Amino acid sequence: MPAERTLHVADSNSTVLVFADADAAAKAAADRIARVAADAVKARGKAVLGLATGATPEKVYEELAARVKAGALSFRDVTTYNLDEYYPIQPLDPLSYRSYMHRHLFGRVDLAPNRAHVLDGTVPESAAAEHAAQFDRWIDADGGLDLQLLGIGRNGHIGFNEPADLSAEAFAALPTRLVDLHPITRADAVREFGSPEAVIPRALTMGVRQILAARSIVMLATGAKKAAIVAEALKGPVSAAVPASLLRTVADRVVWLLDEPAAAELG
Ligand code: PGA
Repeated sequence: MPAERTLHVADSNSTVLVFADADAAAKAAADRIARVAADAVKARGKAVLGLATGATPEKVYEELAARVKAGALSFRDVTTYNLDEYYPIQPLDPLSYRSYMHRHLFGRVDLAPNRAHVLDGTVPESAAAEHAAQFDRWIDADGGLDLQLLGIGRNGHIGFNEPADLSAEAFAALPTRLVDLHPITRADAVREFGSPEAVIPRALTMGVRQILAARSIVMLATGAKKAAIVAEALKGPVSAAVPASLLRTVADRVVWLLDEPAAAELG
């Protein structure tokens, strides 16, 4: 799926591809995932993919599942790590990201269940730090992420790495951990949870360190609601106040896939 246009955002050094609509952008994300997975399997016998949840990647998973069904793609040699999970939550809760992944991808492709990693929202709080550290060790032991798929929150979060009052260097080193969700994230989650009181206010998230270490990073952002934060992340200061701006510190490994509405404020 060719991009409609390539945007050169002054000083960002980032590759920004703009597509006519969200479907085309999602298809381009699926193309990249399929290509990176095939290349990694060819080169070292396996591919390690970092996956995202939310409304934006649903079409990506639909596309990948369709390709598997058509025999054009296989997850046989793929291992996956998801960015985040609410805490606490049961995996079978329809609102868990584990069940989201089962609905949209895991249940529809030939991925071995023991290679589909989602942070465990049932670990006791006293064991959460060790569980998170273990998640980072598993990714490291798997050789790191060949590709990380990302969305962007309206506050600029990547995974549930929320805006923070830290230096960019300290932020870039954050490990996988238990976090409090930001008010904007909680407001946006009302869409899934039904009411502000029902939103689970904490989560386990893959850390910034692991995300930025991925050998390839695909940021997919679509819709007018993302236009302001996309422009801030690409044109504002690189700062922990806008987590996605940190992607500019590894710009040679990142591609931004946008639809026209999400690119509207980039000029
Ligand atoms: P969304 O979430 O795809 O539901 O907009 C994106 C994100 O918060 O990363």
